[in-house]
Amino acid sequence: APPLMTVIGSLNMDLITCTSRVPAAGETLISQSFDTGSGGKGANQAVACARLSRIKSHQTGNVTVRLVGAVGNDNFGHDLVQGLYGDGIDTSGVQAKAGERTGAAVIIVEQQTGENRILISPNANFSLRPSDFTNLPAPLPDLIILQLEIPLDTTLQIIRIAGEHRIDVLLNPAPAQELPNWAYAAVKHLIVNESEAAIITNPKDKNPDWTKAGEHFNSIVALGAQHVIITLGARGVIYLETRQKKLWQFDAKNVEVVDTTAAGDTFVGAYAVAVMTFAKGKEDFAAAVKWANAAAAKTVERRGAQAAIPWLDEVEAYEAEPCQKPVN
Ligand code: RIB
Ligand code: NA
Repeated sequence: APPLMTVIGSLNMDLITCTSRVPAAGETLISQSFDTGSGGKGANQAVACARLSRIKSHQTGNVTVRLVGAVGNDNFGHDLVQGLYGDGIDTSGVQAKAGERTGAAVIIVEQQTGENRILISPNANFSLRPSDFTNLPAPLPDLIILQLEIPLDTTLQIIRIAGEHRIDVLLNPAPAQELPNWAYAAVKHLIVNESEAAIITNPKDKNPDWTKAGEHFNSIVALGAQHVIITLGARGVIYLETRQKKLWQFDAKNVEVVDTTAAGDTFVGAYAVAVMTFAKGKEDFAAAVKWANAAAAKTVERRGAQAAIPWLDEVEAYEAEPCQKPVN
């Protein structure tokens, strides 16, 4: 059977408005466009796993993807689950909760830069309690993928129980929150952006240059996760193998930035698929990072979250060679 990856996390309906500039307090502006779209970091990462493991015209791929989460018993929730089902994702673990509303995210995209500002209303996502995870949802997966859009105590419970079952965990601690130290050490793969890296390691230099060797890497190594990836947007990505203290840097692909929403989620899903498939056995995680970097670049070129996530055959070969660097 193909490897099973279970994403446990959020589903949001994204309410996306595009603007030439962000309104000031008390100001009313006319936006360029408005759209709704499927989102939520958990659901986005599940979609990235599903699409990046198969070519667009095929029904099935190299991995099986399950999403565990919660929506409200409303139209948004219904639409989100339908979309995931269409992507071939097992949604049997997504509950529709009576009396809850589906999670929503108000996203303001600045047209000039493609940069976004996001306000999340967790709603049903916050109804997932630690007591729902006294056991792991069956069947037991080969990899569990987590973010921080469900309650933190629930995420910690899942990390704990995954450890008891010796199941690998990939954590994308977004949006950033500080976790207890044991939790970082309990995850095998940690994928963060620059600001999340600064929050969880609290380096002496408040704004370290992650592309340069330096003391700030000691605090990353000290977290205890084996594979740490820091995505740097236009400056590419850093991959740190903490056991051997090896550091790789990949430049960003040169693309036109339309909307950065879900680029991080695409990176996570692409990396996870690579780790479960072509990088497996060889333990070639640098190759997985390189591939994820190319997949994320594609998402940046298109508007929306799930609407922008590419399929396997849409990610062009990315020939840039990594640069291996000293850690300290
Ligand atoms: O990472 C992008 C996602 O963050 C959006 O889809 C939005 O729902 C927020 O959760
Ligand atoms: Na996008």
